[in-house]
Amino acid sequence: MAPQQKYQQLMPDSEEDPPPGDRGARKLCWDSLMAVLVLLMVGVLLLLATSRIAVFGAEGVGPQEASSPRRPPGDACRLTVVESIPEGMDYGPNGTVSPTVFGVWTSLITEATRTVDIASFYWTLTNSDTGTTEPSASQGEKILQELMSLSSRVSVRIVVNKPSKSSTTADLNSLTQRGAKVRVVDFPKLTSGVLHTKFWIVDKKHIFVGSPNMDWRSLTQVKELGAVVYNCSSVAQDLEKIFEEYWFLGAGGDIPTEWPLNYSTKYNSLNPLHILLNNTPAQVYLSSSPPALSARGRTDDLKAILSIIADASEFVYVAVMDYIPVSVYSHPQRFWPDIDTALRRAAFDRRVTVRLLVSCWKHTDPIMFPFLKSLAALGNRRLHLEVRMFFVPTTEEQKRIPYGRVNHNKYLVTDRVGYIGTSNWSGDYFSHTAGVGLSVNQTGSEGGPGVSEVSKQLKDIFERDWNSQYSTKLDGLGDNWDTVCQHTENM
Ligand SMILES: *[C@@H]1O[C@H](CO)[C@@H](O)[C@H](O)[C@H]1NC(C)=O
Ligand SMILES: *[C@@H]1O[C@H](CO)[C@@H](O)[C@H](O)[C@H]1NC(C)=O
Ligand SMILES: *[C@@H]1O[C@H](CO)[C@@H](O)[C@H](O)[C@H]1NC(C)=O
Ligand SMILES: *[C@@H]1O[C@H](CO)[C@@H](O)[C@H](O)[C@H]1NC(C)=O
Ligand SMILES: *[C@@H]1O[C@H](CO)[C@@H](O)[C@H](O)[C@H]1NC(C)=O
Repeated sequence: MAPQQKYQQLMPDSEEDPPPGDRGARKLCWDSLMAVLVLLMVGVLLLLATSRIAVFGAEGVGPQEASSPRRPPGDACRLTVVESIPEGMDYGPNGTVSPTVFGVWTSLITEATRTVDIASFYWTLTNSDTGTTEPSASQGEKILQELMSLSSRVSVRIVVNKPSKSSTTADLNSLTQRGAKVRVVDFPKLTSGVLHTKFWIVDKKHIFVGSPNMDWRSLTQVKELGAVVYNCSSVAQDLEKIFEEYWFLGAGGDIPTEWPLNYSTKYNSLNPLHILLNNTPAQVYLSSSPPALSARGRTDDLKAILSIIADASEFVYVAVMDYIPVSVYSHPQRFWPDIDTALRRAAFDRRVTVRLLVSCWKHTDPIMFPFLKSLAALGNRRLHLEVRMFFVPTTEEQKRIPYGRVNHNKYLVTDRVGYIGTSNWSGDYFSHTAGVGLSVNQTGSEGGPGVSEVSKQLKDIFERDWNSQYSTKLDGLGDNWDTVCQHTENM
């Protein structure tokens, strides 16, 4: 009973109503005022008896006591790590195989009965959007068709970054014609960053978060990783608060200096949600960037990543498209050592094994390499710090596809925690650009020796990629490491 009552007290709805005592009390006659007061006192006593965190102003922001798990009744969340593996890649008969992004997007559309909210950087789901005639665009085109027909049956809301002059709005126009509501956020104007986030919320209970954009190439030509979480209204309702921020900004508003209280959250790195995930107890929270979008209680995405690295005791595996300890878009560019320092510290101070898998494609910014070399230079027989580059193999035909054939993953896995994000690891993404991260901690739960469920799925994927024919040691790139990514066909 106690956890349920506590959860009631912490329901998001309770923040939206002012305390009952404030509401029109003067209009009430004396008798009913007394009755209200008596009820209030009984309520407060009950609260004090059942809850140790009765400080209304600071709910959820303080650390949670281990003895009071707070599992929302009814939620039996199911999380699956999903991937897009570009056509033509082959990991051999023993390579870990994940459900596909295309498959789970289709299932989310099938599940939807009331609402679908999608936040994405941009939309190019068809061949005509990209000026191509690729058969592999058919999955994206199917998703667009299904979302169009869904838009006439359920509430579909979309937020998207303000399209640049050269980018297309054809998909969004088609969706709007079928009844979807679309809002454009002028993130460049608001923060001089972009709305780079990527997530779905379906019926306020299923979510998808990860690297893929609403782009046909994200289903067949770009290597992507995300997580779908079914039947998880507690996490979905928290993500909805971030969506509502974008939705508000899409109406043309400025970023408020302080977000109204109904955008605030109880759940963060110090006080994660306690839920059953795949039948295993888990602590889960959502982080967000940039800090200007962190309503009260929300953990900044950078802080989430740093806290996860700091918590690792055996290994930290990182797969990101770009790893650049610089704010690359600031003028002048600035050194940005936050994550770099945390990784060095983990390896040097705590002897944690650190592995960094970074992407190599023809648009790779050469500024990245001296930093990667410097990090890898620390590694030796005692300090386990290694860097590898990941290439997606590309045929002559595939080379015609613009901006395809790259590992777009952005995740982190340690011996304790799995984290799936939407941001590259450079300073700008955490200071100016909007993204989200999903952290799952199943420390102490069963799920195989040393690793827990979600971490295990991510670790298997990481090790598959790390040990595959598509990854190369930094040294293996020879002397021309700064130009080698431009010639990925030489793989
Ligand atoms: C795949 O796994 C099986 C069983 O463990 C093993 O016998 C086989 O050699 C493996 N194949 C490859 C290509 O690694
Ligand atoms: C959600 O939970 C319900 C009730 O337990 C179940 O019938 C349904 O299949 C679940 N949905 C998904 C997508 O797992
Ligand atoms: C907060 O309240 C405002 C005003 O009622 C509403 O427009 C907004 O959608 C609410 N935000 C959330 C996250 O519910
Ligand atoms: C994961 O959970 C354990 C056990 O509750 C906790 O000690 C640890 O700090 C958590 N790790 C992170 C990164 O939140
Ligand atoms: C980060 O990721 C995006 C795609 O998500 C890519 O186009 C971009 O070039 C990357 N790197 C930087 C430094 O922005």
